[in-house]
Amino acid sequence: MLDKFNRRINYLRISVTDRCNLRCTYCMPEEGITLLPHKEILSFDEIYEVVKVAVNYGIDKIRLTGGEPLIRRGIVDLVRMLKSIDGIKDLAMTTNGVMLEQYANDLKSAGLDRVNISLDTINSEKFRKITRNGDINQVFKGIEAAKMAGLKPIKVNCVVMKSSNEDDAVEVAEFCKKNNLQVRFIHMMNLETGEFSIVEGGEGGDCERCNRLRLTSNGMIKPCLFDNNEYNIREMGAENAIKMALAEKPICGSFNKSNKFYNIGG
Ligand code: 5AD
Ligand code: SF4
Repeated sequence: MLDKFNRRINYLRISVTDRCNLRCTYCMPEEGITLLPHKEILSFDEIYEVVKVAVNYGIDKIRLTGGEPLIRRGIVDLVRMLKSIDGIKDLAMTTNGVMLEQYANDLKSAGLDRVNISLDTINSEKFRKITRNGDINQVFKGIEAAKMAGLKPIKVNCVVMKSSNEDDAVEVAEFCKKNNLQVRFIHMMNLETGEFSIVEGGEGGDCERCNRLRLTSNGMIKPCLFDNNEYNIREMGAENAIKMALAEKPICGSFNKSNKFYNIGG
């Protein structure tokens, strides 16, 4: 499906939960987060319906995000359900990797094609600080498990403060090279003020070439990460919400005061 600026929209990013087992400083406050009530979170059947409709509008690429998608109960079943939909060519997930060791094989068997794993440093102490007490060894084990399971190509998302020449970023790049992982540097963004830039080594942040729509965990279709507009699939129906999002996708992002990274999935 083309939007009004002639961009082919074929990619839907689905946030399956606003919850996370880490608390990265740039993503979540330490405490006092208002989480969505469970009844507001879309059921698997609702997500399945949205994807069915989205495929008719040209979506062929899906990414599951969070929060942390692997803490959504039954996530493997959701993968299986989405894989069964004709027309999905690429089914991927962005995860912090903490629970991948446990899930990698099941995800692969259920039909997940590949994973992107977040890793901003390879230093365990710094990792503990950035994630507010995460254990980097779990992520390393998760990466290994993803490799063994064949969830390839594995991409590593590395958030940088200012540049990919920072010490941590350079070390992550070396680690990726050694381990056959593709690294992408994501500059720290601010949704409220609209600070964003093109992802180095990736596709995000390039408004002219943007091919994405988003679905939040509480059922809002969003045409743009940096835009307040959202269309409620429960109120409007999936078809109308998708149509409106396509019609209203802005030529370029500005700012978004209605969401946080943890409910929209980056
Ligand atoms: N700036 C850039 N990326 C962010 N993410 C979360 N918060 C931010 C932010 N403020 C990204 C992380 C992770 C993904 C789930 O979202 O890089 O890889
Ligand atoms: Fe969790 Fe990812 Fe946010 Fe970190 S960046 S708190 S891992 S959702």
